Amino acid sequence: KKKINIGLFGYGCVGQGFYKVLQQSPNTNAVITKIVVKDKSKSRDLPVQQFYYQPSDILLDNNIDTVVELIDDANAAYDIVKSALKLGKNVVSANKKLIAEHLDELIELANTQQVTFLYEASVCASIPIIRNIEDYFKSDHIQGFQGICNGTTNYILSRTAQGLTYDKALSEAQELGFAESDPTLDVDGFDAKYKLAILLKHVFGVSAKPEDIFNCGIRHIKPAHVNFADNYEGKLKLYSYAKQVEDKVIGFVAPFVVPLSHPNYNVENEFNAVNINAKFAHEQLFQGRGAGSVPTASAVLSDVQAFQTGYKYDYSSTKYNDNTFTNDFYLKIV
Ligand code: HSE
Repeated sequence: KKKINIGLFGYGCVGQGFYKVLQQSPNTNAVITKIVVKDKSKSRDLPVQQFYYQPSDILLDNNIDTVVELIDDANAAYDIVKSALKLGKNVVSANKKLIAEHLDELIELANTQQVTFLYEASVCASIPIIRNIEDYFKSDHIQGFQGICNGTTNYILSRTAQGLTYDKALSEAQELGFAESDPTLDVDGFDAKYKLAILLKHVFGVSAKPEDIFNCGIRHIKPAHVNFADNYEGKLKLYSYAKQVEDKVIGFVAPFVVPLSHPNYNVENEFNAVNINAKFAHEQLFQGRGAGSVPTASAVLSDVQAFQTGYKYDYSSTKYNDNTFTNDFYLKIV
């Protein structure tokens, strides 16, 4: 296996998780050569010599062939990822906002530069959902999917059902490293929408702008709504929903009442779940930790390993479907 020299951007929750999982994976022939962080004054659990403070410290280092971008700021991440691809480096990113907003441009850039851009960790963290859509379902025909794609909101819904206040549940999710630094992105359904947009590209080949997709989060859920669900033996879960209807694709994010009989009823805390409905395989359920340091890092590690086998995403929607979909998103009450 070819040795990979990694430049790591970010040493927060996921960055530290990635450092740990790589150390515990001696079979992965990869080393973190440099880590670039923003804040010089923060104390960290590694020798200070490992840290650098300018993006160019990694980007202009010719010994570094692979950039792993795990920072929080989507705009700064966009500049880093673009520059790294332009400079001929392979890139792994976990930044769903950046990817949802700029995917087509980044795919084109990676193709032009003949490098690879992978981002399994950006959708449902540890669940290998993109890889399964790309590989396992290559010759099937996915007709729709729905899922719990945000760990923070699922955590809040689980904990408030146990009697915690909303504020306490959110602060727990923040302490556990599940929430975005701006938790509005979680609770108002933006994060779930970014993940939906990325999946729409891989499942149907459509490029949906996040601002064209409807999202409603959990902020306005009242005890009366929870009781309503309860009366029907159901639980509220925030769903990212997509479905093919003739030549169109419907996609939106909204709370759903999940009945007791459905497997997602028992998906609690930071766990995520994606239900795929395919022509040949029929229903499949993928479930796993959708947030958190080491689980998210597991997906980053798998992308790094994928470089060693020359893996690339395919993206052609026709591999799933004979249709060419119009890029059309609207809200449908189901
Ligand atoms: N804030 C995100 C979540 C992190 O709660 O799902 C994982 O993408």
